[in-house]
Amino acid sequence: MNYNNNNINKKSKIIGVLERLGEQSRLERMGAENVAEKDLMLAITEDTGKFLSILLTSMNANNVLEIGTSVGYSTLWFALALSQNENGMPHKTKKNIITIDNDRSKIMRAQKNFIDAGVFEMVNVVEGNAVDILPQLLDSHNANSNGGCDLFDFIFFDADKDNLTNYFDMSLPLLKKGGLIVTDNILSPEEYRLVMSKFVKYVRNNESVSSVTVPIGYGEEVTVKTK
Ligand SMILES: C[S@@+](CC[C@H](N)C(=O)[O-])C[C@H]1O[C@@H](n2cnc3c(N)ncnc32)[C@H](O)[C@@H]1O
Repeated sequence: MNYNNNNINKKSKIIGVLERLGEQSRLERMGAENVAEKDLMLAITEDTGKFLSILLTSMNANNVLEIGTSVGYSTLWFALALSQNENGMPHKTKKNIITIDNDRSKIMRAQKNFIDAGVFEMVNVVEGNAVDILPQLLDSHNANSNGGCDLFDFIFFDADKDNLTNYFDMSLPLLKKGGLIVTDNILSPEEYRLVMSKFVKYVRNNESVSSVTVPIGYGEEVTVKTK
């Protein structure tokens, strides 16, 4: 099988799992599925996934960090974009996506979804509290710029909201100049409005970024590192 066929097969496998999870998420949002609160996917919307995937493709992104994996729906949108970028296939020896979650049962569901989508090799799922993991990533980058963690093209915040300003401060040194931080839930649900508006003010006061809210899905803050 040639390289192009491989790539088409890879893409259709990812899309198959995205469609299955997208339908599950849609039913979850409608309240049609009887799912215990702890098992909810709480995934981004499909149009948000497409939008983020378009951003990653247009940047030819190669390194992504995500805070808040859940069962891997958003991660799969990133994998879809990365598997189509200039390099074509994920790096053989390197995990291109690092995604962090502190819920083991969600991580196990995500790992299964990554296997089904054929992207297990490109995703490093890190279990733990993101507040503890981010400094470790920075140490790893600083300690060994060859073998340690590379700077990221794209960082996605979709976990607990009270730590957002900490995540922002800890992630900025991990982001390349010209790279993006995207934050979900800026406009919805209503219960997050206050904490999100404080976060948006905090980000826009930082002189090394430029930032705008895009009213898609639950509202995405798209922040580019300019310095
Ligand atoms: C909204 S869900 C993520 C949805 C996912 N990004 C998607 O769109 O498919 C939030 C996730 O963040 C995780 N989380 C919450 N607080 C965390 C923390 N402090 N560190 C790591 N993960 C956390 C939760 O376990 C949950 O799975």
